[in-house]
Amino acid sequence: MHPLPSSPAAMDASVDGALFRAGMRRLASSVCLITAHHADRRHGLVATSISSLAAEPPSLIACVHRSASAHGPIRQAGAFCVNLLGTRHEELALLFSDPDRRDRRFETAGWATLATGAPVLADALAAFDCRLERVVEHATHAILIGTVLDIRIDDFGDPLIHADRRFTRLAAH
Ligand SMILES: Cc1cc2nc3c(=O)[nH]c(=O)nc-3n(C[C@H](O)[C@H](O)[C@H](O)COP(=O)(O)O)c2cc1C
Repeated sequence: MHPLPSSPAAMDASVDGALFRAGMRRLASSVCLITAHHADRRHGLVATSISSLAAEPPSLIACVHRSASAHGPIRQAGAFCVNLLGTRHEELALLFSDPDRRDRRFETAGWATLATGAPVLADALAAFDCRLERVVEHATHAILIGTVLDIRIDDFGDPLIHADRRFTRLAAH
C-alpha cells in the first residue's frame, strides 16, 4: 500500500497506462451495444462503459472513444440507445467490436425503434432509448449523458459479462 500523498507534487503523475489496463481487467462489466441512427444510416459499437446516473430524471452515462465511427453520428443525432446483451449475443458483441465488419453490423439480428429512432435490438435484455442531454469530453473519450425516454425489457436473459479480456457469464450461486 502507498501512503497518502504528502505533497501536491505526489499528485502530479498518473500511473502507467499498461498498469491501469491491467487493473481494469479485473472490473467485470455488462456488455452493451450503443446504437444511433443518423443521415439514414445505423451506427453502433460494443461498450462496457455504461452506468446508471440517476432515477430522477431517469438517466445514464456512456463513455465513447472520440475516434469510434458511431461517435459523430450519436452526437449529430442527439440520441442513442443502450442495448444490454445476453450470453446468446456473444457473436453480435464480436461483430460490433470488429472494425473490419463495420458495414455488416446491422445485417443480423432483429432491430426496431422506440421514441428516438435509434436502433433497438429486438431481444436485448433491456434497451434504454436516450436523448443525448450533455457531452463531457475527457482526453480520448466523450462521456455521454442520456435521458431515458423509453425502455424495452425482455422476459429473461443471462447477461453477457466481460472480464479479464474475455466474454463470460455470471456463475450460479
Ligand atoms: C468488451 C468491449 C468493451 C468495449 N467498450 C467500449 C466502450 O465502453 N467505449 C468505446 O468507445 N469503445 C469500447 N470498445 C471498443 C469498440 O467496441 C470498438 O473499438 C469498435 O470497433 C468501435 O467501432 P468502430 O470500429 O466502428 O469505430 C469495447 C470493445 C469491447 C470488445
